[in-house]
Amino acid sequence: MVPFSFVFCADKFSVEGNVSSPVESHHCLRSIDSRFHHPDKKVDETKLKAFVAQEVKLRVEGEIMGILEAIKGRRSIRAFKDQEVSEECVEKLIDAARWAPSAGNIQPWEFIIVRKPEIKRKLAEAALGQSFIEEAPVVIVVCADENRSSQGYGVRGKTLYCIQDTAAAIQNVHLAAYALGLGTCWVGAFREEEARKTLKIPQGVRPVAVIPVGYPAETPQQRSRRPISQIVQYETF
Ligand SMILES: Cc1cc2nc3c(=O)[nH]c(=O)nc-3n(C[C@H](O)[C@H](O)[C@H](O)COP(=O)(O)O)c2cc1C
Repeated sequence: MVPFSFVFCADKFSVEGNVSSPVESHHCLRSIDSRFHHPDKKVDETKLKAFVAQEVKLRVEGEIMGILEAIKGRRSIRAFKDQEVSEECVEKLIDAARWAPSAGNIQPWEFIIVRKPEIKRKLAEAALGQSFIEEAPVVIVVCADENRSSQGYGVRGKTLYCIQDTAAAIQNVHLAAYALGLGTCWVGAFREEEARKTLKIPQGVRPVAVIPVGYPAETPQQRSRRPISQIVQYETF
């Protein structure tokens, strides 16, 4: 993310581009204003540039560290506290999901929010008896609309892009949940037709992941990852 960018003029400056939040942009403007801006004086451009460069560096580093911390700190959670997850939190997860990239910005994802115990039980059954699914206060089922993707990109859209797009959205859900103190698990092992029937999902839409969401009641150990040296090739495979 580019937190903000500045346009310099002879004796004034303005802010444009993306900012992380309105609060941040106001804060930034205020602090620049108080240091460099005086109604009767020209802005000291060199000082201003140095200040902005430092601010951008700090903010970008902060952002990157925050994201990396979430990526590395997240674990699959399969035990949940008996504590509700608010609608507001669920909306934040869906909001994070919808900002995932998608081929041609087609956004082929659909989300089913399940709170009813009976439906959660059936989902756990469809997922080969993974009972932690029904123990979570809320379950998000992420689906891929093959029709939407195939309209834009034919067979490749249907078989590849819509799954890739949806997977990116799913990962955003996991990371956002972690950032909110919630636990999730990506459940992919389920009988698709059974899940489809339970959730009344129409043909042409594929349930891709079942995500139980709740406050973690366990602190799992970090699972190992293949080392970088094993997974990276240079120039050719
Ligand atoms: C496509 C996919 C399907 C998965 N399906 C299941 C599942 O059905 N049940 C389960 O308990 N975990 C499932 N997982 C979670 C993995 O077991 C877990 O991500 C992996 O062991 C690494 O652990 P971590 O997520 O704690 O880093 C799935 C993960 C992915 C990406």
